[in-house]
Amino acid sequence: MRAALPGSPHNACTLMPMPKGTLAMSTYLIHQISKSYRGRTVLAVEELAIAAGRCLALLGPSGAGKSTLLRLLNFLEVPEQGQLSYAGQIIAAGGPPLDVRREVTTVFQRPLLLDTSVWGNVAYGLRLRRRYAHTAVASALEQVGMSHLAHAAARTLSGGEAQRVALARAVVIQPRVLLLDEPTANLDPANVAVIEAVVQTLRTSGTTIVIVTHNLFQAQRLADDVALLIDGQLIESGPSAEFFRRPRDGRSQAFVAGRMIY
Ligand SMILES: Nc1ncnc2c1ncn2[C@@H]1O[C@H](COP(=O)(O)OP(=O)(O)OP(=O)(O)O)[C@@H](O)[C@H]1O
Ligand SMILES: [Mg+2]
Repeated sequence: MRAALPGSPHNACTLMPMPKGTLAMSTYLIHQISKSYRGRTVLAVEELAIAAGRCLALLGPSGAGKSTLLRLLNFLEVPEQGQLSYAGQIIAAGGPPLDVRREVTTVFQRPLLLDTSVWGNVAYGLRLRRRYAHTAVASALEQVGMSHLAHAAARTLSGGEAQRVALARAVVIQPRVLLLDEPTANLDPANVAVIEAVVQTLRTSGTTIVIVTHNLFQAQRLADDVALLIDGQLIESGPSAEFFRRPRDGRSQAFVAGRMIY
């Protein structure tokens, strides 16, 4: 079942205080959540804390449930069971209010840009929030190396350029959480480098970042923490350095060593 859309009248609120003593430093806390499609459980995560101001790489084979988990984290979908808490509040069935939803932004693998200029795309989120500032748009475009194409029509951009605009559109609103779903899949090294540099900058600015990637080298470059999903289950999570140096679970060892075929 899809959550009510932002701004919908069904988007009644839904935040409840977390019990005292819950980890204050977590942006998200997941407790026994599950999600199924047509009766098939595709995600069943017992416990996962996503630390505030850190970058988590979400790893796993195709079909493991990574994008499904991201859709729960950006409140596009709701878990059927269990608890998802965000910033210390348990999110109930209707999803959080619009101002909370707007703290979380997502960059998808295939960017869907508005049929307007590059500038218009980056300005859109600020206008929506009544925070439009010329300098903010200019600076976001500069950050992703797209200033020279500011007035180009978004539909004329190459895949790499479009992805850089999608990232500028996300960072310009200074989100509390940035979710990235395979943001550099199929991009050339130059575009990958630009995108990774922006993620690195955000990482040092206190933004909570969750990046889904199939590139283990990218995960090692960017992530503070790692979570490995296989068949909808969380196999292992922890600091990136430990995960890659000494994975505990046999399946993690196979995954890191490239012995897991998928
Ligand atoms: N809207 C949907 N309806 C039915 N099944 C779905 C839907 N979305 C996802 N699934 C199924 O849920 C499972 C997990 O999908 P998900 O997209 O989360 O995987 P993923 O880990 O992101 O994979 P990939 O690395 O290929 O992107 C898959 O088996 C997929 O077919
Ligand atoms: Mg996916």
